[in-house]
Amino acid sequence: MRILVTGGIGLIGSACCELFLKEGHEVISVDNNTRESLFGDKGNNKANIKENDFFKSRKLELVDGDIRDKELMSTLVKKADAIVHLAAQPSHPKSLKIPIEDFQINAFGTVQLLELARQLNPKIPFAFMSTNKVYGDYPNFFSYKIMGKRYENVVMDSFNEELPVDRCGHTPFGASKLAADIYTQEYAINYGLKTATFRGGCLTGKNSRAVEMHGYLPYIIKCALTKKKYYIYGGGYRVRDQIHSSDVASALYEFIKKPKPSNIGIYGKSYNLGGERQNSISIFETIDAIKAKTGILLDFEEAPERESDHLWWISDMSKFRNDYPSWRITKDLDYIFNEIIDYFIKTLKLSVKLKEIDYFKKKKR
Ligand SMILES: NC(=O)c1ccc[n+]([C@@H]2O[C@H](COP(=O)([O-])OP(=O)(O)OC[C@H]3O[C@@H](n4cnc5c(N)ncnc54)[C@H](O)[C@@H]3O)[C@@H](O)[C@H]2O)c1
Repeated sequence: MRILVTGGIGLIGSACCELFLKEGHEVISVDNNTRESLFGDKGNNKANIKENDFFKSRKLELVDGDIRDKELMSTLVKKADAIVHLAAQPSHPKSLKIPIEDFQINAFGTVQLLELARQLNPKIPFAFMSTNKVYGDYPNFFSYKIMGKRYENVVMDSFNEELPVDRCGHTPFGASKLAADIYTQEYAINYGLKTATFRGGCLTGKNSRAVEMHGYLPYIIKCALTKKKYYIYGGGYRVRDQIHSSDVASALYEFIKKPKPSNIGIYGKSYNLGGERQNSISIFETIDAIKAKTGILLDFEEAPERESDHLWWISDMSKFRNDYPSWRITKDLDYIFNEIIDYFIKTLKLSVKLKEIDYFKKKKR
């Protein structure tokens, strides 16, 4: 296959490029490094090109372009056997400052891409990386209690795709992604495109050019290792499920290899995609884990809650597992923490040692 990956030099984009190339496919990545213009030098995703050898593959075409460029995208869509659409303004706090640009990239960029696929190449699979922010802050309306150093949901073990998407706040990011998510479904329902939307939880890995506004786990680890103060917005009991970028890429790959329609033959399914309960962790638990693994106690300060931040999110992935039973989460919390800590120790040349490799595994016993 020749797979078109938008946002191909980002966290998930680089994991997709790596996997698809390893599986013998050709890849076209289109990315104009908007992340750097959004978040400054620390968000520069071109560092991923420098640091990862697979970007040198002759089977990879790296296009420096904007997904909103209709002419460019027409050429690329025509050449593709599958589309994995990841390019986005990815931050909900940032979207409050730039709602129009957020809309243009996330909503318009996606609709135009769907329309080009419909006009030029309607038979190919189209995976759209959505977000659990499509559910807005509806998850916060549930009851929670503090258990140890985390919130626990009193009634739900995890959230599936039945959660309402309205009657709550979203931030412009949640709204633009929801629009894109719904359009992706509409293009399956009305035009027969083989689409699916993946509503990601906390996606993570060393290739995240993490900044305060996006990239929770790498950013908090980096703050600890570099002795930078970390601001906890709205309390440290908040829980997120962490999924490694390579496991996200393998889920998207399962779909583009074999898109699954509903039992009445219509595509456009939505899947929650996250690390589930086994990879869930609160901010306070993250601080403890960093301390155990590196000996460093994070310097933090509590700050007011941010708009539409979930108190607690754990993904229920039964729907995806049902369609793709052989897919697995292969990276646990120890792997994820160790990879990110090791990456910063090496690239920032820190004199920190990774002390406790199996902290989470031991904790479970
Ligand atoms: N990281 C997370 O925790 C998370 C959670 C849920 C959903 N997502 C979604 O996953 C996808 C990938 O996110 P990521 O974490 O890899 O973020 P990322 O910022 O590392 O990657 C996104 C890439 O898209 C590129 N891009 C943005 N606007 C563009 C444009 N107009 N034209 C071309 N390229 C453009 C950026 O330069 C960047 O390289 C996004 O759609 C994001 O909303 C991410």
